Amino acid sequence: MAGLIQLDRILQAQGFGNRKECRALIRHGQVTVAGAVCEDPFAEFAPDGLEFAVDGEVWQYHEHAYLMLNKPAGFECSRSPIHHAGALDLLPEPLRKRGVQPVGRLDEDTTGLLLFTDDGQLIHRLTSPRHKVAKVYQVTAKHPVSDQQIAALLAGVQLHDEPAPIAAVACERRSEQVIHLTLTEGKYHQVKRMLGAAGNRVESLQRIAIGGLRLPEDLPEKSWRWLTEDELGRLLSV
Ligand code: URA
Repeated sequence: MAGLIQLDRILQAQGFGNRKECRALIRHGQVTVAGAVCEDPFAEFAPDGLEFAVDGEVWQYHEHAYLMLNKPAGFECSRSPIHHAGALDLLPEPLRKRGVQPVGRLDEDTTGLLLFTDDGQLIHRLTSPRHKVAKVYQVTAKHPVSDQQIAALLAGVQLHDEPAPIAAVACERRSEQVIHLTLTEGKYHQVKRMLGAAGNRVESLQRIAIGGLRLPEDLPEKSWRWLTEDELGRLLSV
């Protein structure tokens, strides 16, 4: 529980600029708190659960940002994308300004569940192979996936530059060319390389779950939203 905090500091922490910029927003009457305009940058509020609006857009105070995006193809996860638009650009400016980062990376042509946060500990917890958080991918293969290929993916396939074979935690057939593959590492192009090593090829790739959190069916591609408390808990529940 945080105590009372000045409004200019609250806005700064939520990504609305530096102290000077936030004070100017407040003094110009652009900020309302709980429905009433507040022109005093030093007015103090209890931040937990605080609802405020900047230029009419309503926000809720969050000590940390935990967001999910249904990533479309054609967007890069890096901070400085080179060849395509950046997935970060699909988020509103205050969220980018407060320093949210993607939790792990998806390839430019991979779609599906991508998390963003400014909580470095959670990023580490979800991406470090030591913690073995499962990531589930829906893989559409170029060729029918044979039983031998599924067996190889489960037993472990040898990738270039890796000292030992790498195995999927689970591999479930969904149709002739579609499998759900569960991994706990996040090596470069891992799914594509594993399918290649098993003698097939990835046609399209979608991440459908991280830990116990599934990509919600009602989150359209290109859309993002805040995680609920329950969803945040489910991330680390399996
Ligand atoms: N494996 C891949 O090959 N690509 C991704 O984007 C994620 C996992």
